[in-house]
Amino acid sequence: MRELLTSFEDYLLNNLPQSKTFHPYFEDALGDMLKAGGKRFRPMLLLSVVKSNKSLLVPNAYPVALGLEMLHTYSLVHDDLPSMDNADLRRGFETLHKKYDEVTAILVGDALNTEAFNQIVQAPLHNDIKVELIKVLSINGGIDGMIIGQAIDCFFENQKLELNQLEFLHIHKTAKLIAASLKMGAIISEYDLNIQEKLFNFGIDIGLLFQIQDDIIDETQTTEEAGKTTQNDESKNSFVNLLGLNGAIKSADELALKCENSLNAFDENLKISLTELLLKYLYRHKN
Ligand code: IPE
Ligand code: IPE
Ligand code: MG
Ligand code: MG
Ligand code: MG
Repeated sequence: MRELLTSFEDYLLNNLPQSKTFHPYFEDALGDMLKAGGKRFRPMLLLSVVKSNKSLLVPNAYPVALGLEMLHTYSLVHDDLPSMDNADLRRGFETLHKKYDEVTAILVGDALNTEAFNQIVQAPLHNDIKVELIKVLSINGGIDGMIIGQAIDCFFENQKLELNQLEFLHIHKTAKLIAASLKMGAIISEYDLNIQEKLFNFGIDIGLLFQIQDDIIDETQTTEEAGKTTQNDESKNSFVNLLGLNGAIKSADELALKCENSLNAFDENLKISLTELLLKYLYRHKN
């Protein structure tokens, strides 16, 4: 697993946006947040699925994994903007609107969003597969996914949602892109539709768990520990605000157990590959 992460990281660093114009810093800003690190959770989900079925295709999947990471990184750059969560630190570094200016952060986000799809187009994979990948990423990262989640997250600040609305918010904001990562891995490695759907549904649970843990981190970790601005959710419909810290931890425990059971029900290759990646994430809220 570590080798997979290291080779993806090398690929990413060697394939950062390259162009250089007479703008004094825009092109540097484009690469900053990608270089800054992050867990690379979504690319690793995708690559782990590919590895489980068609390990020879892993290198062909790197551009797609990079596209996914670019789209996720754009969502973080915009999420931190003053009009959204207004955060100063991300991935251990100053956020782009702090380091440069707001225009730069908005446009870097826009650029990473469109470049994500260009990366997929460039991948050495069949066109039919690439169209399918673009469809899954655009739906789940876009209007019917992350975007509506973010819109609801920001609009309903200081307004308590019902539990089912809270689930809708977090499924869209976070879980759908995570579920899409697994499904995209399944599309590349040509798992059948039944397994694609199973992986997507599993990804929704993993994604919800990931967001509950993220909400717990906001409450319990310092900005330095998390590498991003924390104690920042007081007006949000976070799991911690709705369920209390202990309630959120209990919910995470239950969901982690459910995910462990689903993991064990996958066929052997998928089970081995995903377990290797996910074990440290399932109980991240206990660290
Ligand atoms: C943070 O995502 C935003 C959420 C959807 C919770 P990550 O926790 O994956 O952030 P990085 O990529 O590691 O920086
Ligand atoms: C953001 O959720 C989810 C995104 C789509 C970027 P958060 O606002 O909780 O993410 P962090 O805590 O700032 O990373
Ligand atoms: Mg947010
Ligand atoms: Mg935020
Ligand atoms: Mg958060």
